[in-house]
Amino acid sequence: MHSLEVRVPGDKSISHRAFLLAPLATGASVVRGLNAGADVEATARALTALGAAVEWDRTRGVAHLQGPASFRDPADVLDCANSGTTARLLLGMLAGLGRRATLTGDASLRRRPMDRVVDPLRAMGAVIAERGEPGRLPLAVESGATRPGIHASPVPSAQVKSALLLAGVCGGLPVSVSEPRASRDHTERMLRAMGAKVTAERRGDGHQVIFVPGPSGLRPLEITIPGDFSSAVFWLVWMVLTGTARRLTVWDVGLNPTRTGALAVLGRMGARLAVSRLRTEGAEPVGDVSVEAAPLRGTEITPEEAPGLLDEAPALAVAAARAEGLTVLRGARELRVKESDRIAVLVENLRAVGVEAEEMPDGFTIKGTTGPLSGRVRTYGDHRIAMALAVLGAQPGNAIELDDPGCVAISYRGFWEDLRRLSEETWR
Ligand code: S3P
Repeated sequence: MHSLEVRVPGDKSISHRAFLLAPLATGASVVRGLNAGADVEATARALTALGAAVEWDRTRGVAHLQGPASFRDPADVLDCANSGTTARLLLGMLAGLGRRATLTGDASLRRRPMDRVVDPLRAMGAVIAERGEPGRLPLAVESGATRPGIHASPVPSAQVKSALLLAGVCGGLPVSVSEPRASRDHTERMLRAMGAKVTAERRGDGHQVIFVPGPSGLRPLEITIPGDFSSAVFWLVWMVLTGTARRLTVWDVGLNPTRTGALAVLGRMGARLAVSRLRTEGAEPVGDVSVEAAPLRGTEITPEEAPGLLDEAPALAVAAARAEGLTVLRGARELRVKESDRIAVLVENLRAVGVEAEEMPDGFTIKGTTGPLSGRVRTYGDHRIAMALAVLGAQPGNAIELDDPGCVAISYRGFWEDLRRLSEETWR
């Protein structure tokens, strides 16, 4: 069987955390495999403005960071662009460091809720002023956290959890965060690898409680960041949809179990997936993921599964568009506050190209079809919406035009080149 191969850019979540945590360590960190998308650039820019010594060779994906940084109040507003992770984690870090700074972002980010981090940071004594709509950017951190934090987050959110852990580590304050289900744990893994005593305890009701004791002398990082599973999933779906007798392998993909719920769902839909060379690198599980094309059937994605596949919902939605029967996703209300309202935007766009789809408050139903799909779609500047529709549009017989193909650069520079190459190799 003819095999295809691809490597995806470094994990975006882990890249942000490397830029945020390495300047806190005592010594020189070396980070390889960084994601060079616009979101991670926003984090690196903010750290530089705060006084961190960052040398980043974007073409090689390697950064050298010297710690501990002498942080200062930045002269200018920190622009987090489109990046929720940048904004929320920085708010926590600034509150912990007691540095004064104003954060803003693009129109999409200014619509997204920040009160989920601002409220618990205020409960720790931080003074944060709203310069725009309540609970939204722009926000000014005016003085830092002074008290320990105990916060029960109503939603599983790694950004909320990480913001508070950063406030604790930077401010030398004990912090405990509980969440109804385990969200991605990259911050905890990286902090532990640097020597911090972070604990995670699963309670009987399924809630998870994460605790950091505050003061943490951190060792520098020397890591290679794995490929981003949330990018890899586009190629897995793409291959399955081609219907050709080919195998595709995505090399060196991060397989943190809090992130890989889409593998089980795609498997249930009929995709033939295999993970090989599973290993641990830099505190994270990494492996190669292979897939062969297969006819798909619809499935029900339960509320219990949803937190483990939220960022993959756009890719799963286009798989559903080509599966036999109905696919139903529930328990995914958080999709409404991502880079776009992904429930509304996915349903709008799938309908625009000829797929039957319905919104629910916390998810969607999609009826698969084999007919040709065509039309112009609106990305709303959302990188994952763009890549999902590109994967659908690249299948023979379909003609889908995106209003803003450039927005893929938020997480995946090189996406269009990879798509062109894989298409040529598949159908030549
Ligand atoms: C992220 C956490 C998730 C995820 C986002 C990246 C992170 O958001 O959807 O793409 O890096 O911590 P929430 O914390 O809002 O769930």
